[in-house]
Amino acid sequence: MTVEGERLQKVLARAGFGSRRACDELIDAGRVTVDGTVAELGRRVDPSRDHVAVDGVPVSIREGLVHYLLNKPAGVVTTASDPQGRPTVVELVPEAPRVFSVGRLDADTEGLLIMTNDGDLAHRLTHPSFGVEKEYVAEVQGAPSRASVRRLRDGVELDDGVTAVARVALVEPNVLRIVIHEGRNRQVRRMCDAVGHPVVRLVRTRIGPVSDRRLPPGQWRPITPAELRELEKAAAAPTPR
Ligand code: URA
Repeated sequence: MTVEGERLQKVLARAGFGSRRACDELIDAGRVTVDGTVAELGRRVDPSRDHVAVDGVPVSIREGLVHYLLNKPAGVVTTASDPQGRPTVVELVPEAPRVFSVGRLDADTEGLLIMTNDGDLAHRLTHPSFGVEKEYVAEVQGAPSRASVRRLRDGVELDDGVTAVARVALVEPNVLRIVIHEGRNRQVRRMCDAVGHPVVRLVRTRIGPVSDRRLPPGQWRPITPAELRELEKAAAAPTPR
């Protein structure tokens, strides 16, 4: 057993699992593992090294990790610097510690983007094998027919292959809500192009369990510990194919 380090209950409480007492109860119930082994009360951990999970879901316990939710406005690029001198998403969040965006949104696309220095979680949120859903609202040219909506749902042929099944709803005659879990380059725009309804405006409204209708464009807020746990759950295991 590790003699040095921090008490596991304290680390869990910091990660948002409730009071230290509530965390002790989780440990006592055998729901917490450290490096794959069920932890016992009084356990200490090294947050920089040990892998902690609750109910099999990894918990980010490394100190210094930050997770922000940004509402990206149109015209801001997701890369760290832009040869054309356009504003970048890193200019919209605190400078230190340095963070990067989890995946990308096109310069013209608006909406939710996670910014973090948590490489592990970022990988799991973006890699298609984990299948984390991203929801978009797309205003399109024309009024898609039911057949077009069905095509979007079932998969459309793009130049890099057929898209996976998506959830698609027509919420207004020219507005689609599209939920995908692949994240190919410009996927939603290309899907809509493919059915003859080019996108006029595209907004990402949800990343897995995280949404926020009140966050104004250009603003960010910390992701709450409860949201972080839900994100970890959503990205916990690769989806079987
Ligand atoms: N699909 C797109 O076409 N663009 C984005 O920015 C995100 C998803």
